[in-house]
Amino acid sequence: MAIVYDKEQGIFSLHTRNSTYQMKVDGYGYLLHLYYGKKINTFMDYMLPYYDRGFSGNPYDAGEDRTYSLDVLPQEFPVLGTGDYRSCALKVREENGCCGCDLRYAGHEILDGKYALDGLPASYSEQAQTLEIKLKDERTGMGVTLLYGVLEDCDVIARSARVENAGKAKLYLEKAASVCLDFLYGDYDVLAFYGRHAMERNVQRTAVSHGRQVFGSSRGASSHQYNPFVVLAQQEATERTGECYGAAFVYSGNFCAEVEKDQFDQTRFLMGLSEEQFSYPLKPGSFFCAPEVVLSYSPQGINQLSHNFHHCVQEHICRGKYKNQVRPVLVNSWEACYFNFDGEALVRLAEQAAELGVELLVLDDGWFGHRDDDNSSLGDWEVNEEKLGCSLGELSERVHQNGLKFGIWIEPEMISEDSDLYRLYPEWALQIPGKKPVRARNQLVLDFSNPQVVEYIFGKISDVLQQGKVDYVKWDMNRSLADIYSGNAEEQGRASYDYMLGVYRLLELLTAKFPDILWEGCCGGGGRFDMGMLYYTPQIWCSDNTDAADRVRIQYGTSFGYPLSSIGAHVSAVPNHQTGRSISLSARGIVAMTGAFGYELDFGELIEEEKEEVKRQIKVYHQIAPLLVSGKYYRLSNPAREEYGAWMVVDAERMNALLSIVMLDIHGNMPVIYVRLDGLDAGKKYKEQTSGKVYTGEALMACGLPVPLQKGDYQACQMIFEAVEDEQDGKSGNANCR
Ligand code: GLA
Repeated sequence: MAIVYDKEQGIFSLHTRNSTYQMKVDGYGYLLHLYYGKKINTFMDYMLPYYDRGFSGNPYDAGEDRTYSLDVLPQEFPVLGTGDYRSCALKVREENGCCGCDLRYAGHEILDGKYALDGLPASYSEQAQTLEIKLKDERTGMGVTLLYGVLEDCDVIARSARVENAGKAKLYLEKAASVCLDFLYGDYDVLAFYGRHAMERNVQRTAVSHGRQVFGSSRGASSHQYNPFVVLAQQEATERTGECYGAAFVYSGNFCAEVEKDQFDQTRFLMGLSEEQFSYPLKPGSFFCAPEVVLSYSPQGINQLSHNFHHCVQEHICRGKYKNQVRPVLVNSWEACYFNFDGEALVRLAEQAAELGVELLVLDDGWFGHRDDDNSSLGDWEVNEEKLGCSLGELSERVHQNGLKFGIWIEPEMISEDSDLYRLYPEWALQIPGKKPVRARNQLVLDFSNPQVVEYIFGKISDVLQQGKVDYVKWDMNRSLADIYSGNAEEQGRASYDYMLGVYRLLELLTAKFPDILWEGCCGGGGRFDMGMLYYTPQIWCSDNTDAADRVRIQYGTSFGYPLSSIGAHVSAVPNHQTGRSISLSARGIVAMTGAFGYELDFGELIEEEKEEVKRQIKVYHQIAPLLVSGKYYRLSNPAREEYGAWMVVDAERMNALLSIVMLDIHGNMPVIYVRLDGLDAGKKYKEQTSGKVYTGEALMACGLPVPLQKGDYQACQMIFEAVEDEQDGKSGNANCR
């Protein structure tokens, strides 16, 4: 049983394959957190700290017992106003401004299957179990149901909370986190994934210290600046050893992750919606649902933690036809021709692409309204037939005739002031009455909290997808939200949250209506790279930065929480359009190939030799693509600190593996670089495809491989290993770099 309740002790134990999560309803009805870590079968309540602490108050029912204080005890869902002065999970304000909610246990249920959240993305699994714990504040009538989903196979505990006003007066939620994790002791590091447009998910590892460290977004999207994925690792933990915890928010809007070391050196971790501009009104009888946080624990280092999340995303977050499928190799028109194209140019690109083995042509921005630059037409989802020289159906047909699938770019959440839609419905843009709005990329944001807007856009986009017999959609979002004011909302404190619900509703409507379409998320590249989007789109354009050297670092950071199959990665032209750097086509291919692979350049500009290289890359990709969908990913270096990036992928049977190495920094008379492999079977022998050399798994993992020294910037090599029988044994030695 994944969920066990001991009635006598009031203890709940949630077991996954390698972890246990435990909590207790104590004599006062408070739900205390007992333990999260290695799998155990012991009740951990003997660890609870009961001491008389100065300036740590006591609940009234504790009577004379000064050793009982919520300021010190570890809790499951701490609320403001109970004498716990650490950061809390829930703040409830009454109409008179008073904040004094006191939640006590009111019952629980253990259910088969995994809970779902109405209108919100969440992990799913038929094999899972759900625990619902009901807490209640008698005075206000506020009820909270804590939801725990136990996904044993990937060592995941999913959490959410449903807050209900069963009282008589209106209440406001000023904060509603989804998770609180209290640790009684221990020195932790927090790994946050920070960045900016075109340089997302850099890894920052810092010690958790006294005070609060906060990472989050108030941009309306999960953001380029901080990813809603955080790791808490024992300070001595490495990629391969030590205990660590990860938390991923299954939500694509504002968020907040906090970590705090308290006065007694205890650590509290919180994750959930951001408090900024959040004040959710709860009328009597209404409820609110906090988005899900997916938690995982690894006793064997951070790489294992990543495996848990990769497995969870692939099996329990992504949905639809493509979730476990090799994705088609695509060419995207954006960096190939930006806004400058007509139908003939696109057909030419499709013909060239077909010759090279590309399988999908994506028509990016610029096909609708009168959009020849990024200043107009968002909202006018009418095909610009004059520009194309044909209808979208005709263009799609010609692309299909070349044996390619046909894809299209949309940005449904946006509106240009220069658009028919804006001229007709200016009130559909998020704007504060009487204030000039903040523009970004010269565009405004549609009020997706208004169901009418969502329905309208659904109709328009549906028409386009039908006309164009579209096989793939890139869903973009190219600005942060400001001016949070919905003409549709009674109260503005709920507008950002309702906006996200509107986005999810449109995603749900469209993905359900067009189940054969491959959906790719995008937000100026990786500004909304999160599990909320991955519930609808099994891949996301990782970054607008296609420079292979930068991409090594961006994809490295992304890999901590997200599987390779979700990472959109393309080979683009040199000099690179974002950095001006030139890197060999071979190295660009090696980097892009460990993701949802494609090209983003004009094949007409390539010389014959380069075309041959593209053909070769696509062949190699087809060979390794199954690994990317189901293999285990190992980080073998830290490319932000070391002069090279190295990573590998190994299939479940440990028969096939791919090793990729990219030199990032070259110096005179370099020391040799040795790379130690991982994830192989120590008892097997592996043949490297290009050199034909055979190595033992034990040697590759215990000692590794020397990387041949080569001169020149950004040399890269890719080695494909296959397990072989003894008789195929060959000589061992250095492998060759291409
Ligand atoms: C964003 C995307 C790009 C491209 C452009 C089009 O920046 O990230 O890939 O689609 O928009 O305007």
